[in-house]
Amino acid sequence: MQNRKITLRSNGLPTDMRNPFRRSKDISLELAPPQQAREISNLHTKCFDREWGTAEIANLIEQDNVLCIIAKEVGKPKAAPLAFAMVRIAADEAEILSIGVDPSERRTGIATKILEEITRRLHAERTKKLFLEVDLANQPAVNLYKQLRFKSIAERPSYYQHDNGEKSAALVMRLDLV
Ligand SMILES: CC(C)(COP(=O)(O)OP(=O)(O)OC[C@H]1O[C@@H](n2cnc3c(N)ncnc32)[C@H](O)[C@@H]1OP(=O)(O)O)[C@@H](O)C(=O)NCCC(=O)NCCS
Repeated sequence: MQNRKITLRSNGLPTDMRNPFRRSKDISLELAPPQQAREISNLHTKCFDREWGTAEIANLIEQDNVLCIIAKEVGKPKAAPLAFAMVRIAADEAEILSIGVDPSERRTGIATKILEEITRRLHAERTKKLFLEVDLANQPAVNLYKQLRFKSIAERPSYYQHDNGEKSAALVMRLDLV
């Protein structure tokens, strides 16, 4: 039998299984003001190995063609965001620059809600296609995008180099909005 390491939640369920008893917090989705850049940068650090600086995030948020949505717990407008997603729009196409959910809030549907809000807004802007690039080894993210009907359109072998020296492919995906 394959020796598969499984991490368990405190309730005993494997972390790669949805917990049917866990509901997401009630969240509100809003456009991020540049003043939230520091908190988005802190959240990014919790989600990725590489840092994304406050100044760079603030600079992006201020650009007219960038859409940055954050999720906050309802009733806690001053609390740090639970999740963020950033998209760049160019003509009738858009690209997801980054998306991350606080590790303690994952697998409760927050990323799905943010991406649904983004596609709703892009649709209103008459954007035709939404692209993204994801590490093929990032199973949670690949599953998320497939569930939202993104299609795989290209693969770039050995694109990502990990700290342990291993390499993995990048998957380019596209969602048709019209
Ligand atoms: C990828 C990420 C954004 C998903 O956020 P999330 O809020 O947990 O996702 P959702 O709860 O909306 O999950 C939607 C679907 O994604 C898939 N998924 C999410 N987490 C998963 C996991 N740990 N294992 C397997 N599939 C997973 C499932 O298909 C899930 O649907 P289901 O729960 O009905 O089975 C989150 O894990 C994250 O922030 N990861 C670190 C940053 C990152 O990798 N960003 C993407 C870069 S391209």
